Amino acid sequence: MKKILYPGSFDPVTNGHIDIIERASKLCDKIIVCIAINKDKKSMFSTDERSIFLKKVTQHIDNIEVNTFDGLLINAVKEFDACAVVRGLRAVSDFEYEFQMALMNRELDSECETIFMMPKTSYSFLSSKLIKEIAHNHGDVSSFVPPIVVSALKEKM
Ligand code: PNS
Repeated sequence: MKKILYPGSFDPVTNGHIDIIERASKLCDKIIVCIAINKDKKSMFSTDERSIFLKKVTQHIDNIEVNTFDGLLINAVKEFDACAVVRGLRAVSDFEYEFQMALMNRELDSECETIFMMPKTSYSFLSSKLIKEIAHNHGDVSSFVPPIVVSALKEKM
């Protein structure tokens, strides 16, 4: 069984993440969406909340598992028995960081492969960070995130 691991903060999940999940799910037997538990990084939503959102918004995908990981990504790849990591590339500006991360992961574990996927062009400017900023300033985020996240952001504000 070919499994692909899609790691990230998903704080919160955006339509761009969902687009990548849908595309990647067609390339493998199973896609494992893995939420990073980063105790040093302040997040708006708890790991449980992020997991609930991800499970709800991907109900239409059969071959998906939503899980979490702590520590190094290379260890999660081994633990979940994934053959590759998938990361979304929105623009050239993402490339340098993603390239560095992919190469470092392969340096740490020579078997760790990374696949880059481009989301729909209309999502290329989307990021969880901007969504939080817009929501914080009472802007409309309904075209960028699923309804469950819109409601959760309204509640948080
Ligand atoms: O959605 P994000 O915040 O861009 O995701 C980044 C993430 C969580 C995938 C990355 O920070 C990560 O892999 N963290 C785990 C720790 C790790 O392995 N660091 C070394 C990377 S070379």
